[in-house]
Amino acid sequence: MTGFLGNAYLWVKAGHIIFVIFLMAGLFMMPRFFVYHQECTPGSDEDRKWIEREDRLRRIILNPAIIIVWIFGLLLMFDIGAWVNGWFQLKLLIVLALSGYHGWIVGYAKKLKRGERPLTGKQLRMLNEVPGLAAVLAVILAVVKPF
Ligand code: HEM
Repeated sequence: MTGFLGNAYLWVKAGHIIFVIFLMAGLFMMPRFFVYHQECTPGSDEDRKWIEREDRLRRIILNPAIIIVWIFGLLLMFDIGAWVNGWFQLKLLIVLALSGYHGWIVGYAKKLKRGERPLTGKQLRMLNEVPGLAAVLAVILAVVKPF
């Protein structure tokens, strides 16, 4: 290992992947929560329970995971100078889109909290395909490095 991380590189990479798993779990769970949440009446007991579950998922899993994934990912990037590689540039675009999706999820939870229900359950289920697709591409790019 030649970069500034030295032998710690593989530990940072392990941490990166561990928190990617937590992040993806949260990104898959939240829209499922939304589907059930928005079937209940705003202001009801059930509504308050879903708001609490969504707040906890955001505070305990989603937000810490995305911060740590970015910190570890950027450390790896600087260590190996990854930005010159095509696979990394495309991966960066995909993870930026995934971070945008994360932001959208947090925003949608706030709307539900206010009693708004902008999307249908079917639309939410379809949007739930986005993180899966992004993860498939990001992993292939990082592991296979096809270009
Ligand atoms: C958030 C910003 C991210 C940055 C800046 C970033 C950057 C990096 C870098 C530079 C590496 C090192 C590659 C190597 O050692 O050859 C890496 C490894 C990896 N990344 Fe990311 N990453 C990010 C997010 C993600 C996400 C969201 C996923 C999956 C959904 C992911 C999956 C992986 C995997 C599986 C590896 C291990 C590749 C290997 O060496 O076998 N990363 N990442």
